[in-house]
Amino acid sequence: MTNPSTRRAVLATGAAALIAGCSNYGDENGGGGEEEASSVAPAESGTGSEAPAGEALTKTGDIPVDGGKIFKDEKVVVTQPEQGGFKAFSAVCTHMGCIVANVSDGTINCTCHGSKFRIADGSVAKGPAQKPLPAKQITVTGDSISLA
Ligand code: FES
Repeated sequence: MTNPSTRRAVLATGAAALIAGCSNYGDENGGGGEEEASSVAPAESGTGSEAPAGEALTKTGDIPVDGGKIFKDEKVVVTQPEQGGFKAFSAVCTHMGCIVANVSDGTINCTCHGSKFRIADGSVAKGPAQKPLPAKQITVTGDSISLA
């Protein structure tokens, strides 16, 4: 009677140790590096290259009128439904979470199961998705588009 529970406890502890070991290994790479590179950190933060918010995402000229462009890393799709009018939406399909694949013929298209979303407001043009793509805030400054 006590043996199975003891064995379970040992297994659970072993699994926890393994998980902890993995995360410790990762932390050693990141944390140790940060400590050793503390004198380098101010110079890196000065470049601002690690801050996605507020940083230019793209140029207005890169977004086709009546079309759009998908930024997979940022999980954002930026559209220009009319000249000079830019919109942004989550690029995560509301059906089952695929990243939308392309923008064509006035819709943002997910090729996982064929859902289409309108470039003007992210609303569903074709299922199986039921919910619109959530809007994202962007800022247009001159010819630069940034995530707000
Ligand atoms: Fe996009 Fe299914 S995940 S259509």
